[in-house]
Formats: sequence, structure tokens, C-alpha cells
Amino acid sequence: MWTVVVAAGSGSRVGGEVPKQFLTLGGVRVVDRAVATAAAVSDGVVLVLPPGKWEANELATRVVAGGATRSASVRAGLAAVPETAEVVVVHDAARPLASAGLFERVVSAVLAGADAAVPGLESADTLKEVDPGGTVVATLPRERVVAVQTPQAFKASVLREAHRGEPEFTDDAAAVEAIGCRVVVVPGERLNLKITVPEDLRVAECLVS
Ligand code: CTP
Ligand code: MG
Repeated sequence: MWTVVVAAGSGSRVGGEVPKQFLTLGGVRVVDRAVATAAAVSDGVVLVLPPGKWEANELATRVVAGGATRSASVRAGLAAVPETAEVVVVHDAARPLASAGLFERVVSAVLAGADAAVPGLESADTLKEVDPGGTVVATLPRERVVAVQTPQAFKASVLREAHRGEPEFTDDAAAVEAIGCRVVVVPGERLNLKITVPEDLRVAECLVS
């Protein structure tokens, strides 16, 4: 099993000079936390970095340059995964707190027969569908909605097929769904937050301290 860690984004919503994945959390870079966990459970790790100046991580087996979108960066990483790997995990560098157990959970679901497995969390909040003007259209059935995280595990052949037409999605499971394959949900982790806005950095700082 190989893992692709995508770290080629610009972190525009967090802002600042240094993209969020290269900031430190408890003295360790966000990206290094994600790579260390991936390396502990994988046969190899492909780290996808922005072209240019950022330092790689010595635990990464291969380092490649990313693309203009997350999907393009995943494809760049996938191209560097050996053809012999039967399961591929894709993980966001922006999720430094995912546990090794979570990687193992998604991989186990794929080894048990699913095309793909993703961590999902029930929403604690009531969920509303709204129109572009901000008016509520409907209240969603909360028990049928999950918030999905990474790491996401895939049969390698399915992930490669899903990316063949160079689709653009916010996660890889969506690309796999689009070709009609079966994605299962395993329990996610509340502490596996994605650093998206500045407040997330403050929460993550508390979690690691
Ligand atoms: N990512 C990537 N290549 C891109 C865009 C995103 O490798 N062209 C990675 C990010 O580095 C991150 C993950 O995909 O680890 C999830 O993306 P997101 O949280 O949206 O990060 P950014 O795109 O960097 O942030 P923003 O959308 O706020 O600019
Ligand atoms: Mg983004």
C-alpha cells in the first residue's frame, strides 16, 4: 500500500507568506506530521509539493511537483506510485492529526472488497440546504449525511481509471463515484481536522500541546 500526500496548495484561505502545510504545529511542520503518519503504515509515500522552494521530508520515498488544482496534484502523485501497488491512499497534508489507525481502517475496508473507503463523521449540527441568496430551501436528513475526511483508500486500478479523464473534484472519492464504483464510509476522527482557515491553526495548536 502506497500513500500520496498532497501538499501543493497555496493555502489561500489561511493566508500569509508561508502556505499552511509548511507552518509548524508544536515545532513540527504540518506536512511533516502527515508524512510521518503515512510513512509509518505505508510501503512508500509520494509527497506532492509546490514546484520550487519548499523542503521535502526525508520520510517521503518519492517527491514530485503538484499541479494547479488538488485533482491535478493527486494525478501527479499517482503517476509516481509503482504499478505494483494494489491499494493507494490519498491524504491531505492539511490534515496533520489523522491517526495511523485511521489509515489502517480505510485500507482494511478496501482489502475487504470495497473499491474505495473514506472516513466520515456525522454532523453535530442540523444541516440546511440554502439557495444562492442564503434562504433555506430544505432541512437535510442528518442521519443520511456525513462529512468526509482524508485519508481515503482506493483499489489502485479504480483510482487510476477515475482520474483518466482528468476530472476536477474536491476529493478522490467523488471521482470514483462518478465512474460508478462503490465507496464505503468508515468512522472518521473528530480530531482529524483540516486546516482550512486561521482558527483551525489555533485549535490544532491546542490539540498538539
Ligand atoms: N492541494 C494540492 N494542490 C493544489 C491544491 C491543493 O496539493 N493545487 C492540497 C493542499 O496542499 C491540501 C489539500 O490539497 O493539503 C487540500 O486542499 P485545501 O485544504 O483546499 O488547501 P489549499 O488549496 O492549499 O487551500 P485554499 O483552498 O485555501 O487555497
Ligand atoms: Mg483548495
